[in-house]
Amino acid sequence: MSQDANGSTTAAALASDGTRNGDALANLLQEHRKFAPTPEFTANAVVGAAEYKEAAADRPAFWAKQARELLTWSQDFTQALDWSEPPFAKWFVGGEVNAAYNALDRHVENGLGDRVAIHFEGEPGDTRSYTYAQLTDEVKRCANAFESLGVAKGDRVAVYLPMIPEAVITLLACARIGAVHSVVFGGFSADALRSRIDDAEAKLVVTADGTYRRGKPSPLKAAVDQALTAPGHTVENVVVVKRNGQDVDWHEGRDQRWEDTVGAASGEHTAVGHDSEHPLFILYTSGTTGKPKGILHTTGGYLTQTAYTHKAVFDLHPETDVFWCTADVGWVTGHSYVAYAPLVNGATQVMYEGTPDSPHQGRWWEIVEKYKVSILYTAPTAIRTFMKWGKDIPAKYDLSSIRVLGSVGEPINPEAWMWYREVIGSNAGKNGEKKAHPAPIVDTWWQTETGAHMIAPLPGVTATKPGSAQVPLPGIAIDVVDEAGESVPDGHGGYLVVREPWPAMLRGIWGDPERFKETYWSRFEGMYFAGDGAKKDEDGDIWLLGRVDDVMNISGHRLSTTEIESALVSHPWVAEAAVVGASDETTGQAVVAFVILRESAPSGQDSGDDVVTTLRNHVGKEIGPIAKPKHILVVPELPKTRSGKIMRRLLKDVAEGREAGDATTLSDPTIMAQIAESLKK
Ligand code: WTA
Repeated sequence: MSQDANGSTTAAALASDGTRNGDALANLLQEHRKFAPTPEFTANAVVGAAEYKEAAADRPAFWAKQARELLTWSQDFTQALDWSEPPFAKWFVGGEVNAAYNALDRHVENGLGDRVAIHFEGEPGDTRSYTYAQLTDEVKRCANAFESLGVAKGDRVAVYLPMIPEAVITLLACARIGAVHSVVFGGFSADALRSRIDDAEAKLVVTADGTYRRGKPSPLKAAVDQALTAPGHTVENVVVVKRNGQDVDWHEGRDQRWEDTVGAASGEHTAVGHDSEHPLFILYTSGTTGKPKGILHTTGGYLTQTAYTHKAVFDLHPETDVFWCTADVGWVTGHSYVAYAPLVNGATQVMYEGTPDSPHQGRWWEIVEKYKVSILYTAPTAIRTFMKWGKDIPAKYDLSSIRVLGSVGEPINPEAWMWYREVIGSNAGKNGEKKAHPAPIVDTWWQTETGAHMIAPLPGVTATKPGSAQVPLPGIAIDVVDEAGESVPDGHGGYLVVREPWPAMLRGIWGDPERFKETYWSRFEGMYFAGDGAKKDEDGDIWLLGRVDDVMNISGHRLSTTEIESALVSHPWVAEAAVVGASDETTGQAVVAFVILRESAPSGQDSGDDVVTTLRNHVGKEIGPIAKPKHILVVPELPKTRSGKIMRRLLKDVAEGREAGDATTLSDPTIMAQIAESLKK
């Protein structure tokens, strides 16, 4: 999510080791509250209970029906699913479809050209609204402009933009011409940007002079310039949107002003269908190794499942609803539920550039009131931040338009869930009135790899439970299995897997088919292993328990411990580093690093702060500000097993201020005492 909270350290809402097991899980499973939908909601819901049965009877047929109902194909497909070479799936074989045509032109052709597609709210308070007709026109111009710069079908385009309409326009223009976009979140550094540009061999970069962050201009183009300083890259042009008016360096011949290229391009552009399996985008995400993975998504299946889930999970009524997903387009949520699904479904959406506290802590609620947002989709970390700021702030605004609330990115703790329901979902106006029936909350579990929602309640069907994503969506085969891959009975925990292919599934890791098989399909025979722990309760509902691998979840952003460790040891002062995600009241987890310094590092009484600041900034430079450790602890040794594996569990105990757990398997059992001693100083 676009929000960067400055959290506090104590009072773990989740369990001690960052996953929700142990005591916290026991507490969670004491959570017996249930909130059934009202009969009115159920009666008006776009999707009913019958859908589960229909989908279970024949999954591919169910998805084929959705594909034909939700999308306009320029050529119909002949086969719903080809799973003859697992784990490489092909959905809607032989079909041709254009994502941009589906998101734009067809709505205009159907007489919806005057409907607002995007209400944009800039951080400084500037606003722009685009109707479907206007957005279609812009995307056509942009498609022509990219083509005139030599971008052709299959070429990769790196996108390094803030949350402004040009981001959506760029993505759809790429999709229109069959170019493959690779968005790099603006919070990543020049180095991270360069490695992603190189991995995908991008021909074009689209960026902006900068954006605004808490009232101040914040640069972006400078990082692109820096990324492209060293030779050997594949970039031919950089298109630069003017956003905050900051001065930027200009590379004649390479750099192009958006106003000149897109502004001057023709508004005539005919979309042609692309193969259903044509690559739509690459999005890099952290895994358990140091190197981010380029997750590859293709066209037909991705569009079908994002559109279906957007309709079903949020109970979308596109004629009347105003949808607002607060995620940045740099993350998968901003792809699926900002750039694609809402537009494919012909909805009206809000897009906001800035932080929730700019210029005041009521900014989001002001936006909800102003645009009468009816469906709000955000992350638990944001909700916990609002809880900290207090319920009096949202109470000043009229939030009565809200009728569905969504959550994504990390497990939502029942306290935050109840606050969301009572303070946001029950608000019936600024005079403190309460709604008789609060808005239902849908907790949506999914991943960059899954492309679209996989587990979530249906608001007109499911009696919701605070803290649980609950039910696999119609057409999705989820299970929880034990170490041996056997399905666990209700009331037990294990690993979350997907048993059958699904339309929006990743088609691979860019340039690395072996890694794709190994990462997701080798742990359990014939099943997709998500990397999450989960538990089935006595009703068979699913509770997500956090990652079981070395991936951290900071404010709903995925970061790998290994990646940050590699960044730390690349600094000449650092001999060794171990990183853990420690529970954090606001951000879910926070990055805590333990480092052993080399002789060359400054030493002495006053050097500590300098070392920490230097190393934090180094991580910021290597990966990006979002990866900067919240705490860096300098220690004499790291706890390791006899085979040399770092015991992060023990470090997590230290980071969370607990007595360290069982240390008997350490190669040197006195190490934890040495660490404790060194931290006292
Ligand atoms: C976590 C974000 C619990 C999970 C869409 C997953 C969640 C990772 C939830 C994917 C949820 C996401 N409840 N955990 N509702 N949603 N996660 O790729 O650990 O950025 O594996 O995709 O976030 O993060 P990603």
